[in-house]
Amino acid sequence: MAEEGRRRRLSRPDPLTRPEEASPLVDMHELAIVHQITRLESAEQLDPVVKKAETLFGAILKPRWLRDLLHGVPLGHPLHPVAVQVPVGAWVSAAFLDLVPGASKASRVLVGIGVLSALPAIVTGWTDWLYLHDQQKRVGVVHAATNSIALGLYTLSFIQRGRGGGKVLAFAGLGVASAGAFLGGHLAYRQAAGANHTEDVPHLFPAGWHPLGSLTDLPEGELHRAEVAGQPLLVVRRGDTVHVLSNTCSHLSAPLDEGTLIGAHTDNPCVECPWHQSTFALKTGDVVHGPATSPQPRFETRTVNGILQVMLPGAG
Ligand code: FES
Repeated sequence: MAEEGRRRRLSRPDPLTRPEEASPLVDMHELAIVHQITRLESAEQLDPVVKKAETLFGAILKPRWLRDLLHGVPLGHPLHPVAVQVPVGAWVSAAFLDLVPGASKASRVLVGIGVLSALPAIVTGWTDWLYLHDQQKRVGVVHAATNSIALGLYTLSFIQRGRGGGKVLAFAGLGVASAGAFLGGHLAYRQAAGANHTEDVPHLFPAGWHPLGSLTDLPEGELHRAEVAGQPLLVVRRGDTVHVLSNTCSHLSAPLDEGTLIGAHTDNPCVECPWHQSTFALKTGDVVHGPATSPQPRFETRTVNGILQVMLPGAG
């Protein structure tokens, strides 16, 4: 049924393309630089730097409440992309003002705001980076190094502006920061760092109720993996109550059934992810601790003639 739904979606015509325009007369190719960035993912020469950064930022960002805050758990999505808006906006605006005669004072203020506001962007970025795959971490350290160079250039520009110069340094900073942004885009969109890895579950899971098996066959008080329509589910039975979540961690797709059941006999039982210890409430799928910021898809359950059935609201 999931396969049927997928075929139906694929067969829908693209609303923006008329049949007479469908001929591929102009093929698009990605830029050569993208290929180079992709090679960074497997550049093991970066690993010693990765290790040092892990030790340093792992020691600084110890308190869990702080990491949860910096990941963006209360926001429901990563805080880092929000934090970078201020320095990037200030620096781009300063570049435009640098082209306007008589606006150098205002431009200096913007460069200074960009330098100061880079701090939250840096801290949130390193917090997320600590919990990525090796390939993402390698691109991430180059992204961070590039942005650090940009920050240095803007800091020098701010100082230099006090003596009447600094515009060239700022334009150089903008160029380097743009390269850093490109790497950040690669991390977020090509490597899916920070993305919700369960967004596709409601699109793949068929609508309606589906049998999962006999209620009494389910193990009691354990993390149990089941599958319905090709989708892996995490099932936890506590007496007659059964909690069912997607088994794929929303952070980076770890199998949650290999994690740890926490507070099995409390009012708020949770599952802790085996890879980076994100914690999700079994009753709601809500994030209790990051690095995940997106909740787990949660399934409704009911028992009919001893057979447990599951339904994902909004599926299909
Ligand atoms: S995969 Fe990273 S916390 Fe689950």
